[in-house]
Amino acid sequence: MAVQISPSILNSDFARLADEVAAISPAADWVHVDVMDNHFVPNLTLGLPIVESLMRVSELPLDCHLMIEDPDRWAPAYAEAGARSVTFHVEAAAAPIRLARSLRAAGARAGLALKPATPIEPYEDLLPELDMVLIMSVEPGFGGQRFLETVLPKVRRTREAIARHGGQIWLQMDGGVSAETIERCADAGADVFVAGSAVYAAEDRDRAVRELRALAEK
Ligand code: DX5
Ligand code: ZN
Repeated sequence: MAVQISPSILNSDFARLADEVAAISPAADWVHVDVMDNHFVPNLTLGLPIVESLMRVSELPLDCHLMIEDPDRWAPAYAEAGARSVTFHVEAAAAPIRLARSLRAAGARAGLALKPATPIEPYEDLLPELDMVLIMSVEPGFGGQRFLETVLPKVRRTREAIARHGGQIWLQMDGGVSAETIERCADAGADVFVAGSAVYAAEDRDRAVRELRALAEK
């Protein structure tokens, strides 16, 4: 599968969100929207009303990463609003299989997110219910953190598990992805890359996205 670049708007200027999404649009495949509720993670960003407004102006499909408690209750609404992909944290879900199925039934791709210390092995049998596994390479809550090398073996094992189960399941790397780290992530088996500060700290966002893609495809 071709590499996908999904810049995160977490470190963009929220006062100019539409422009910030437009700035990445020619080069990016998706836009990664980090929803945080100040409970599952110690930060509060945005929720459904802003996601719905963003969907009206974004040329890119929305890749919603829900760092929230009780995703079983709240996640389906993001799919019903038209998000291309809705990813919930396995650590927060009461019934992940039922939730994944409801996201797919609402027309979205179902993603499962794992915090750095959460192993993939207990969830291998869920893979046929999923369209994406998001492996966090930082503790969730903030952009601009250092990439955690510790998760690379888990990326490899997840890629191997996906190969065993077959199916077109994306493996997304999220956190500290930059020109310095993306090649190792691709080598380990990731094929979707979230980059927040590496894109929005750059003067030329479009160029930053293109450079990341070129490195990931090497
Ligand atoms: C962190 C978010 C990530 C973050 C990535 O909780 O899930 O998507 O915004 O930002 P960088 O690329 O700066 O680590
Ligand atoms: Zn994210």
